[in-house]
Amino acid sequence: MPAYVIVGMQWGDEGKGKIVDYLTSEADVVVRHHGGNNAGHTLVVNGRKTVLHLIPSGILHDGIECIIGNGTVLDPAVLIQELDSLEAVGCRFQGRFFISDGAHLIMPYHKIFDEAQESFRGKKKIGTTGRGIGPAYADKADRFGIRFGDLLDTPLFKEKLAAVLDYKNAVLTKLFGREPLSYDAILEQYLKYADRLRPYLADAVKMVHEALEARERVVFEGAQGSMLDLDHGTFPYVTSSTTLSGGVCAGAGVGPKEVNGVIGIVKAYTTRVGEGPFPTELLDGTGELLRKRGVEFGATTGRPRRCGWIDCVQLRRAALLNGTTNMAITKPDVLGTVGKLRICTAYEINGERTQDFPGQVSRLQQAKPVFEELPGWEEDISTCTQWSQLPKSAQVYFERIEELIGVPISIVSVGPGREQTIQRRDPFS
Ligand code: GDP
Ligand code: IMO
Ligand code: MG
Repeated sequence: MPAYVIVGMQWGDEGKGKIVDYLTSEADVVVRHHGGNNAGHTLVVNGRKTVLHLIPSGILHDGIECIIGNGTVLDPAVLIQELDSLEAVGCRFQGRFFISDGAHLIMPYHKIFDEAQESFRGKKKIGTTGRGIGPAYADKADRFGIRFGDLLDTPLFKEKLAAVLDYKNAVLTKLFGREPLSYDAILEQYLKYADRLRPYLADAVKMVHEALEARERVVFEGAQGSMLDLDHGTFPYVTSSTTLSGGVCAGAGVGPKEVNGVIGIVKAYTTRVGEGPFPTELLDGTGELLRKRGVEFGATTGRPRRCGWIDCVQLRRAALLNGTTNMAITKPDVLGTVGKLRICTAYEINGERTQDFPGQVSRLQQAKPVFEELPGWEEDISTCTQWSQLPKSAQVYFERIEELIGVPISIVSVGPGREQTIQRRDPFS
């Protein structure tokens, strides 16, 4: 019963939350290992929608352990709000929800810096979620970060906050011309958070390893998407963490040999929120139709998502970067009645055709997609429960995608609901 990584194969919002929730029925532990509340993972169970930003998407299954790992950045206010709303709907998580002492805290100044840096960038802004993610990870790398374990040790927290806030206030006032933040106000607020979150403190590394040793199945829930990876994504239009499967090792404290499979989540078309290159983007009525039918609005910020055709050049790259062993394809139901479907099979860059995804954003910005056209389908596939019930043209579309990426599809999701899921093969095999 080994460990599996769930990873977004595009630019986020592929439906990772839905698939993690679905797969949790066959798991014991779910771990978020990177990112923060820039993520918005949507679960629909018995018709009820739950959006999770920090808590692992296994939480709606009784008895499943859910862990926030050391590689994450944690906004305590958002986490408490999330716990409150789960409690309000009767979800019992006491004794099975844990937070690593090594998770870094998002502090009030991180959100201010996020916004200030974005406005400083002007036209070259990244289009961040404004949740303070980048500045919190920067502080981690700069060794200014404050961790969850520090928060629970009051004398230590007081000392760390005083030292960091002096520096942050100097930057805020002298560089950005802003008002300084009050030490007392932050301290009071964060000590309240500490009291509320204390019961969930855990040695997450030990817990994960105990589960692995007991041969329990551990699912590592990726956030964002492969092309938002800090190293291999469309830099600088990326997030500030390692979104690829390899991020599990640092973000949860496991060695690579523990990972037995990587399940890549692929939307049947492509979406992106925020700025940055997007070769197959549709700026016409078809893009609008996908946005409307797919309800493509950010689960975190509500921003309209940019929509386009599926891009197998990009997906091949993501498969390489992640070592993807099988894929779950989501939202093909949105493509019904769209008419002919297009798959990007190559790029033309400066008159030359290539099947390689360029590492440099400046080159990617020049890329013109080369499309292959396939017939679509008219049927509503959202009630299909087996592969054989899918229209032939949908099967052909999926098989062509498998062929172009070189990775098999194990799951087809045909709607947001947990039950709207076709298992074609065992994704854990
Ligand atoms: P995540 O960030 O990868 O977890 O994805 P989001 O939750 O941000 O966005 C995916 C959206 O699509 C959510 O609103 C889901 O409820 C929805 N969704 C997931 N799978 C399907 C599917 O197969 N069909 C349709 N129509 N919606 C889906
Ligand atoms: P899930 O887990 C889609 C994008 C932002 C922006 C860039 C940097 O729901 O798939 P950040 O706030 O992280 O510094 O923003 O990354 N972004 C996401 N886009 N889904 C997400 O998460 C995202 N998390 C960050 O829109 O372009
Ligand atoms: Mg999302």
